[in-house]
Amino acid sequence: MSSDNYQTGFANHFATEAVAGTLPEGRNSPQRVAHGLYAEQLSGTAFTAPRAENRRSWLYRIRPAAMHGPFAPYAQHHLHSDFSAGPVSPDQMRWSPLPMPETPTDFVDGLYTMAGNGAPEGQHGVGIHLYAANRSMQGRYFYDADGELLIVPQQGSLRIATEFGVIDVEPQQIAVIPRGVRFLVELLDGEARGYVCENFGAQLRLPDLGPIGSNGLANPRDFETPVAAYEDVEGEFELIAKFQGHLWRADIGHSPLDVVGWHGNYAPYRYDLRRFNTIGSISYDHPDPSIFLVLTSPSDTPGVGNMDFVIFPPRWLVAQDTFRPPWFHRNIASEFMGLIHGVYDAKAEGFAPGGASLHNCMTGHGPDAATFEKASNADLTKPDVITGTMAFMFETRAVIRPTRQATEAPHRQRDYQACWAGLRKHFAPPQG
Ligand SMILES: [Fe+2]
Repeated sequence: MSSDNYQTGFANHFATEAVAGTLPEGRNSPQRVAHGLYAEQLSGTAFTAPRAENRRSWLYRIRPAAMHGPFAPYAQHHLHSDFSAGPVSPDQMRWSPLPMPETPTDFVDGLYTMAGNGAPEGQHGVGIHLYAANRSMQGRYFYDADGELLIVPQQGSLRIATEFGVIDVEPQQIAVIPRGVRFLVELLDGEARGYVCENFGAQLRLPDLGPIGSNGLANPRDFETPVAAYEDVEGEFELIAKFQGHLWRADIGHSPLDVVGWHGNYAPYRYDLRRFNTIGSISYDHPDPSIFLVLTSPSDTPGVGNMDFVIFPPRWLVAQDTFRPPWFHRNIASEFMGLIHGVYDAKAEGFAPGGASLHNCMTGHGPDAATFEKASNADLTKPDVITGTMAFMFETRAVIRPTRQATEAPHRQRDYQACWAGLRKHFAPPQG
């Protein structure tokens, strides 16, 4: 290295300011913050959580988050956290894509609860939602006190303007908005549809890799946090909150996206699923789908996820003497699947991008009849390559309870079980 291009310097990864000199040096809450800003801490874990788990950020903002009018109930009844009442069917279930709205509908009004488990007050479980929207949020801001939001766009790009900065996401990318962070969603392509996992439990994190080693699956360097960006605007705006399963609204006379600088480790982020380092069998058989784990929300039991976010990305299939698509199975975990793009390799038809399926604890499922016949007779001397696809799964420890609006929805495929009806009996024991 020549001395001409040798530079010294230090980077502080989780510290960013939109105006130079905003961040205080050597302390978090000086007597006076630079530029006349207020200091505010946002904590995402208990103050006394172990250091490796501890998440908090310091925000330096034009006005504190406390400044808004009183909250009143906000009527958007498609979004809720009511999973508790009544029997739940063990049926396999599948849905066609959530229809686009026919009237102007933004991200908040377009959220539609499909299923869930646990509860915000217990800080465990998840809410599983779809959204379909055709208008940007205008003059309104949203936060979710009940859980962090894992947003999985399926159609249309989103610009998510948050207190911490701006995150653009397109299909095959994901965004995670921590509990409590205020944001608005603009639609960059006119219409948008996607999936949201609202995680009431422990924050999502990268899984341990065990014998895989220090690289592989989702690599830490590919997770991006935004740089600080703020708006200094006043007007008659509204703040929408999801709190204990219900929506609330309050008047707010300014944009809450007024954070000029922040530092800390509690922040929204983006990840591109196409960067996932996919690992699989190069001999025979299927590894369990935990090999496709992107992010996990751990439970109190070691190795058992409150929620695991798993993807089924493009990949080579080379296993010998092996049925290459996902096999038939029953699991103790419960599985909610979605399809972002392309075709899922265990179903010949019926599982469309934007659609969803639910296979609960111990409910049998697997390839449909057409896929079984094709894969049972495939030429295994050649590798297969699956391209142009991205399916995913929200897998949970607790049973996923579909909402009444989901089970009764016109876009639910009530004939879903027929996809296995054509599986023929092949049993032929030797005679004599
Ligand atoms: Fe499954």
